[in-house]
Amino acid sequence: MRVMVCGKGGTGKTAITVLASRILSEYFKVYVVDSDESNILLPYFLGVEPPKPLIDYIGGKREEEEMERALPKIISALAKAREGIRLNLLPKEYIATSREGISLMTIGKVREYGEGCACPFNILARALLSNLKLMEDEFVLVDTDAGVEHVGRRIEEACDGLLVIVDPTIESLETALMLNETAKKLNKDIWIIANKVTEDIKEALLGEAARLGLKIDGVVRFDRELYISCLRKEPIKSSTAINDLREIIEGMWRIKV
Ligand SMILES: Nc1ncnc2c1ncn2[C@@H]1O[C@H](COP(=O)(O)OP(=O)(O)OP(=O)(O)O)[C@@H](O)[C@H]1O
Ligand SMILES: [Mg+2]
Repeated sequence: MRVMVCGKGGTGKTAITVLASRILSEYFKVYVVDSDESNILLPYFLGVEPPKPLIDYIGGKREEEEMERALPKIISALAKAREGIRLNLLPKEYIATSREGISLMTIGKVREYGEGCACPFNILARALLSNLKLMEDEFVLVDTDAGVEHVGRRIEEACDGLLVIVDPTIESLETALMLNETAKKLNKDIWIIANKVTEDIKEALLGEAARLGLKIDGVVRFDRELYISCLRKEPIKSSTAINDLREIIEGMWRIKV
């Protein structure tokens, strides 16, 4: 399964990706694809050294049209297996593996002022995800950049479903509404998780989501331990949030306990 984690900026996409990858790694070989071209924190939160970006593997970033033209070559460079791209066959320096056995890959980062847009990264992400040859015991989680730019770049088409993260704000619910429409149009699965929820705000949030016609699949509570570990740029520590998420994921994706 290839699941894209998306939603408004700061809702907890990266944190939930890390926690979900830990939970899923008990059942699957998990690959996390970092397709956020601006944030650099995912490796720290996962507890690994940043791997070399995949954009380097295909010879670096090029103009958008040139990338589109070179797509067949890019795909064959990435695909060592005849059936498609097997993630476990990519060169080791492009994969960082955590203590739990979670493998992280990074598409590329916009680091310099005036470097131009992130479109080439999105083209590479789409090419990678849509040509993957996944084994039954492999699970791919894609951590995306904030908002809906990736919708414009059609990365969703290359995934099996969208995991949308909302927080207790109307802005994040509005983004979820847009992503809901996208999923419907593309005939993809969609799950929505409300994150950073406190007891005093839960009812209002769920009420507003229902009023907008959003089905919330689960609630992850605000977790102070998680918050502090993120603040310190450390591997994420969590007990409350990961327990909430475990229950949600096991039910949502019918994973055996
Ligand atoms: N369940 C939670 N409890 C407490 N704090 C949380 C929780 N989830 C996320 N956070 C906090 O919210 C901050 C933003 O989370 P995160 O970086 O995962 O969001 P994001 O959606 O990936 O942001 P961006 O759009 O910038 O990529 C984290 O630094 C962390 O402090
Ligand atoms: Mg993030």
